[in-house]
Amino acid sequence: MSKNTDKNRVIVFDTTLRDGEQSPGASMNLEEKLRIAQVLAELGVDVIEAGFPIASKGDFEAVHEIAKTIDGPTICGLARSGREDIDRAAEALKPAKRKRIHTFISTSPLHMKYKLQMEPEAVHQAVIDSVTYARNFTDDVEWSCEDGSRSERDFLYRCIESAIKAGATTINIPDTVGYAVPDEFSDLITSIMKQVPNVDKAIISVHCHNDLGLAVANSLAAIKVGARQVECTMNGLGERAGNAAMEEIVMALQTRSDVLGYRTEIKTKNIMKASRLVSAVTGFTVQPNKAVVGANAFAHESGIHQDGMLKHAGTYEIMTPESIGLTQSKLVMGKHSGRHAFRVKLKDLGYSLGDNAIEDAFRRFKDLADKKKDLYDEDIIALVDDALMQVNNRIKFVSLRVVCGSTGPQTAELGLNIDGEMHKTEATGDGPVDATFNAIRELFPHDARLQLYQVHAVTEGTDAQAEVTVRLEEKGKTVNGQGANTDTLVASARAYVVALNKLLVKREKTAPAALSA
Ligand code: KIV
Ligand code: ZN
Repeated sequence: MSKNTDKNRVIVFDTTLRDGEQSPGASMNLEEKLRIAQVLAELGVDVIEAGFPIASKGDFEAVHEIAKTIDGPTICGLARSGREDIDRAAEALKPAKRKRIHTFISTSPLHMKYKLQMEPEAVHQAVIDSVTYARNFTDDVEWSCEDGSRSERDFLYRCIESAIKAGATTINIPDTVGYAVPDEFSDLITSIMKQVPNVDKAIISVHCHNDLGLAVANSLAAIKVGARQVECTMNGLGERAGNAAMEEIVMALQTRSDVLGYRTEIKTKNIMKASRLVSAVTGFTVQPNKAVVGANAFAHESGIHQDGMLKHAGTYEIMTPESIGLTQSKLVMGKHSGRHAFRVKLKDLGYSLGDNAIEDAFRRFKDLADKKKDLYDEDIIALVDDALMQVNNRIKFVSLRVVCGSTGPQTAELGLNIDGEMHKTEATGDGPVDATFNAIRELFPHDARLQLYQVHAVTEGTDAQAEVTVRLEEKGKTVNGQGANTDTLVASARAYVVALNKLLVKREKTAPAALSA
């Protein structure tokens, strides 16, 4: 990536597709990763960490495809310190115009002793060897000291100095377990700036986890004392309590530029689109009161606030909804709207779909318009996201008829297409949802446990579409699926099938413990 010449410019390194995907339940398929990468590029992120190529065939392919097709940002692949990991990352990144290898090893006493079972001297040598080796494939090498915030400082300074000497151009300091507090973390960055003699030859980056809800505060504290790259994810997705939320860092830097004085290249008007896409793909609904992108972030409930807003929006809004791409929810079209208007609407909402996907979405839009009188932006978003979820899946929902009511047994007649073949069955259950899920289990036997079943209405009214989230767990691996339909049971079946497809992808992944990052 080009040298950062503006001293107040902060590089945004997005790791939604790598650390974000490590969230329990958040696995994504190739198609979904490509769509997210495209939206991140439109958002203007500087670096996309596209995956961990050695983790699985799927991760390798995703990094490779993103490297091949996404133009603009630097594409980055993660690797542990071994040559096999670095070779795999280099191979996956080959087609990228701008590529970065990100190699890491733990430097804290706890991680070195128990996780790596390595002596500090061996870790120090691995830092030099890994960075030197990675430089054979690209000039852009990032080195991270995993659990950096709990490492002994003198050892950390030595490792950083050696990494830079070996050719690392970015040094990332992770607060891997979200343990740091802002003053302490900025003190760590300040002392690295002072104690590492060649620190001016690299960009200092931070990577904060949110276990204590301090990831964004820690990142901002680090920027104030010299960090010029932040690693973050859309909606704060990530391991455990997640990573620093990109939208919060970016909007804090923008809204409070008066006191902070830093800038990013993020086109903030695309934030909402990226947030919605990540939420739809992962099935992780954004909490209503989430900063910046939550449904209530710009809602004013109390009379006093509404009155103030009518007189001057600045009374209760510190940034405008438009600045993050939130436009008034509009009544859209009805059943007489044509293909052209539908295409224009999709473009307005930020979708760039191929002809087949548009045709499919248009058909579903017409069906929905027959059932529902008023159609809003949210309806279109839900139906398009639902349609996109079904693309390239082995198991596809085809049909459902349910008999339910106070006199049982509740019965579900289900049709699924599995690997291109139609299958039908009839099953009973304890209620219509149970009957529907039993039918899925009959047609595609599996042992996954249903961990979460959640229904949410997309808009108001009894004819609203239901958006259902299903979470399945199998041998410690969890996946989420979402489906939308005016019929809650159809939405439920679609969500379950999406989750099941994701589980099939996740089964291929190597055990996370062996790859802990
Ligand atoms: O949290 C962490 O330490 C990481 C590293 C791989 C950067 O994700
Ligand atoms: Zn992390």
